[in-house]
Amino acid sequence: MVSKLSNGHRQQPRFLIWGGNGWIAGQLKRLLQEQGKEVHTTTIRMENREAVLSELLLTKPTHVLNAAGCTGRPNVDWCEDNKGQTVRSNVIGTLNLADACYQANIHCTTFATGCIYQYDKTHPVGGRGYTEEDRPNFEGSFYSLTKSHVEPVLSSYPNCLILRLRMPVSDDLHPRNFVTKLLNYERVVNIPNSNTILHDLLPASIMLAEHGETGVYNFTNPGAISHNEVLTLFKDIVRPELSWQNFTLEEQAKVIKADRSNCSLDTSKLVAKLKEYQYEIPEVHEAYEKCFERMKAVGIE
Ligand SMILES: NC(=O)c1ccc[n+]([C@@H]2O[C@H](COP(=O)([O-])OP(=O)(O)OC[C@H]3O[C@@H](n4cnc5c(N)ncnc54)[C@H](OP(=O)(O)O)[C@@H]3O)[C@@H](O)[C@H]2O)c1
Repeated sequence: MVSKLSNGHRQQPRFLIWGGNGWIAGQLKRLLQEQGKEVHTTTIRMENREAVLSELLLTKPTHVLNAAGCTGRPNVDWCEDNKGQTVRSNVIGTLNLADACYQANIHCTTFATGCIYQYDKTHPVGGRGYTEEDRPNFEGSFYSLTKSHVEPVLSSYPNCLILRLRMPVSDDLHPRNFVTKLLNYERVVNIPNSNTILHDLLPASIMLAEHGETGVYNFTNPGAISHNEVLTLFKDIVRPELSWQNFTLEEQAKVIKADRSNCSLDTSKLVAKLKEYQYEIPEVHEAYEKCFERMKAVGIE
């Protein structure tokens, strides 16, 4: 596909993925290579202005895919104790990279998060989901706080596309896959959430970037699915002997440092946009079923 740049010129896209060693970055790189696209990766720190500018000058991408971010290890609880480093990456770095791309006339896609909302009276479990226009109402973790504060500033740049992922799921049992996390927890809460099945959404991210789309998109499959529904599907399709234990949100709160976001996102804007490109993303239950069937087909058990 030939991309239209914001200066009106057309040229073959050259992708540069930031956060090159990360989980989502690796999957993006593989997908672009499979599509026969030119793709480069970098691990340069986003907050290092000079190094970012040099990298852009050297590689001359038409599109930056920013899959870098401070996510915490083993989980986001880490960000509670390392706020300086979290701000440098998720606020200063993310904005610096977007700004450097803006100055160089490069399209910049940021892989952001939808974990900036929580169910409330007007958006209850089973009710309407949060749209891109709703103000974030979840600041229970420092990670989410950095992400929700940076988004409105980032979205004011005319070259920026912001994709809000939630609980991403890959077709393997990588430790960062949301399903792997569920399988490894001693006990799980059971609450519906919007999830991002990467097999469906990563191709959509490339499509949106190539078409020069900008603005904020809830970037999940339509619908919401509970943890027990996910595990039941996994048991039915992949691992018949699976069993698990539930606990309440109150009990969960005792074993985690930062609170966790639970919410459903409205995907109407994304669905309508992708329809323009004849691309459909399956409803989340159907998407999980297909994902687990792909896992089973390659022998994952
Ligand atoms: N996985 C999820 O559950 C999830 C959900 C929603 C949104 N997201 C967002 O999607 C993005 C990618 O997530 P992921 O799961 O692929 O995370 P990941 O595996 O932790 O990868 C993130 C990568 O970013 C790099 N990085 C961190 N700070 C950086 C900085 N200041 N400059 C340059 N690189 C930096 C990390 O390198 P170092 O390890 O060397 O620091 C790491 O390689 C993140 O922004 C994350 O917030 C993830």
